[in-house]
Amino acid sequence: MENVTILDHPLIQHKISILRNKATGTNEFRSLTDEIAMLMGYEALRDLPLEDAEVETPIETCMTPMLSGKKLAVVPILRAGLGMVNGILALVPSAKVGHIGLYRDEVTHQPHEYYCKLPSPIELRTIVVTDPMLATGGSAVEAVDFIKQHGGRTIKFMAIIAAPEGLKRLHEAHPDVQIYVGHVDRCLNENAYICPGLGDAGDRIFGTK
Ligand code: PRP
Ligand code: URA
Repeated sequence: MENVTILDHPLIQHKISILRNKATGTNEFRSLTDEIAMLMGYEALRDLPLEDAEVETPIETCMTPMLSGKKLAVVPILRAGLGMVNGILALVPSAKVGHIGLYRDEVTHQPHEYYCKLPSPIELRTIVVTDPMLATGGSAVEAVDFIKQHGGRTIKFMAIIAAPEGLKRLHEAHPDVQIYVGHVDRCLNENAYICPGLGDAGDRIFGTK
């Protein structure tokens, strides 16, 4: 699928396997989520625009490439997407951070919005939406809908684990969005959880339930 990249670097695969283990505690889960986000971000951001700038080295003055344009926007989908933000900020410390609050109804599995605040001008920024889990794809599609309604144009979506159903749904709804995932799992279960997955990402990151 065009615009869909599976980032299957061995380090990412190894760290995802530790995340899956139900014996992995909150502390380690948080650190690994950030580390995976950083490794994924390194690849997902390889097309960031550059512009030559003049720099004086101890030897001479030269023209050398620096990131150009408006600062990157990282937009986590609350809550679990927050767990990936520091990993991206480690790569791009000057990035702005927006937030989209969505929760999935436990019965209908439909996403509900409760918060949206984006850095402006959003239309001039590369936007990286983060959420560890792309399950039915409902939350991801809704988040990208919101960002586009607010004027966002250049959007990347990063998920650590995706279900085939969610990946297809997001790609079909927003074919212009570049999607990066660490692993595509087998399927969704009757509760719309990813199998084998890693359970509830938000609860594992924040130690709830
Ligand atoms: C989880 C996850 C995604 C969503 C994925 O969030 O972090 O946002 O479910 O499911 P979908 O693809 O079927 O929409 P949840 O609603 O559990 O909220 P939380 O992050 O606050 O725990
Ligand atoms: N949200 C999660 O946190 N995990 C899943 O498997 C599906 C949705």
